[in-house]
Amino acid sequence: MSVMTEAATISESTARFLQQQHQLLINGEWVDAASGKRFDVVDPANGEVIATVAEGVSEDIDRAVRAARAAFESGPWSRITASERGKLIWRLADLIEHHLDEFAEIESLDNGKPRAVAAVADVPLAVDLFRYMAGWATKIEGTTIPISVPYMPGAEFHSYTLREPVGVVGQIIPWNFPLLMAAWKLGPALAAGCTVVLKVAEETPLSGLRLGELIQEAGFPPGVVNIVTGFGETAGAPLAAHPDVDKVAFTGSTEVGKLIVKAAGDTNLKRVTLELGGKSPNVILPDADLESAIPGAASAIFFNHGQCCCAGSRLFVHRNHFDQVVEGVADAARTIKVGPGMNPATEMGPMVSKIQQERVCGYLQSGLDAGAEAVVGGHRLGDSGFFVEPTVLVNTKPEMSVIQEEIFGPVVAAVPYDDPEELVSAANDSIYGLAAAVWTRDVSQAHKLARKLQAGSVWVNCYNVFDASLPFGGYKQSGWGREMGHEALELYTQTKAVTVQL
Ligand code: NAI
Ligand code: MG
Repeated sequence: MSVMTEAATISESTARFLQQQHQLLINGEWVDAASGKRFDVVDPANGEVIATVAEGVSEDIDRAVRAARAAFESGPWSRITASERGKLIWRLADLIEHHLDEFAEIESLDNGKPRAVAAVADVPLAVDLFRYMAGWATKIEGTTIPISVPYMPGAEFHSYTLREPVGVVGQIIPWNFPLLMAAWKLGPALAAGCTVVLKVAEETPLSGLRLGELIQEAGFPPGVVNIVTGFGETAGAPLAAHPDVDKVAFTGSTEVGKLIVKAAGDTNLKRVTLELGGKSPNVILPDADLESAIPGAASAIFFNHGQCCCAGSRLFVHRNHFDQVVEGVADAARTIKVGPGMNPATEMGPMVSKIQQERVCGYLQSGLDAGAEAVVGGHRLGDSGFFVEPTVLVNTKPEMSVIQEEIFGPVVAAVPYDDPEELVSAANDSIYGLAAAVWTRDVSQAHKLARKLQAGSVWVNCYNVFDASLPFGGYKQSGWGREMGHEALELYTQTKAVTVQL
């Protein structure tokens, strides 16, 4: 395997954006971090610094929370109609769409993903999510409830519920789909009428900052969306622990998810929703159409370089087809064009950072040391940039870390099975429960397995199918709550029961 090097030139508008003196968006203004400190943003394809951003810390989080609180309690946002809220969100979607190429380029440079993939997946999905949530703004309704109150015979009441925004929301997002994760978080919060402090990932702060400019351009009142760049421990943690934040929505590692829960418990019991890791089983039944299952299994793990919380990282194949499927997925791995995301021919870019490259390679080494075998791949790739070979592992054991832990890289472990019952318990043998997939022509088997697999999403004869209207989230330690769909909105509102004696 080798890495391609040649990368397309950066457009003028993106070059200009990169050179800006990026600041924090607080109360509708771009401001420096209180500390005056900045940190580097690195292109993972070559390790070069492409921009610097402000290093927000607890003082900045505090300023941002105060702005969000003021906007929520007494600013124009507190009096805005649902229809106007929807219009603003829709306008933001239009603006993102108008700048689609620029966002695709920024995501590619910052995260490493192919620009073409960002242009057909990340950016349009973000646009669609905002439009979907814009429509919901006018449809957040309570109910009227015929109450009986047995201890007040003869009394008459009118009872109804109001669904009100939870208030000031802290949102902490990761680096694997920077713009899209911002959209998943901001869309429902804004539709519900909340105000937000968004802490973007330190590895990929740029698209969030560009989004902040468009939020200004769309006309959101000051303080409704505040954006802080900074590190997890010094900006994320104070947001999670802030006593005046009503809810924290987090996407990232299970380890940090637990810290967020603890921070909420230790302070004001703020609401917490979590979208955490996964180790998703992808199951090929004996009657599956292998012509679609094999490329499907390859794309389930290799899409976004395996840096997907729902990546199909454990591939269970009936023993009759095991060798054929493993060879097919390994062939797919061998032909993937690995290179800088900005090269139009690239199909797989680098890991987001040197740390992630080392993490993934550490898992590979531990698997190989423990007796697993790499049919293809198994190592880092190239001398510069943070590339890893697309890898297919076999001869794993259930207790190995490559089977139990989230690798978050282009590494799939293929495991044979004989008996369907054994398959279900092996597939569910994980602390995670984010996604699962089944490949079969047998409709009844498909639905039966969909019920038995412990996962928040189950795909049949497909993988990585997302839609703004479909709830997404985890069973078990993959998280709390759901993103997207109306379920996400519910988690940004709270119910008030109002009772009037007539
Ligand atoms: P992470 O969980 O440390 O980072 C995610 C976000 O949380 C970032 O914005 C980070 O600044 C913030 N953060 C970190 N520590 C924090 C703290 N103490 N309090 C509040 N916020 C904090 O994930 P990291 O280190 O980037 O990746 C490590 C592993 O996590 C990956 O290898 C992968 O397994 C998993 N991960 C899962 C993701 C998912 O989509 N579910 C996304 C990113 C990572
Ligand atoms: Mg971390």
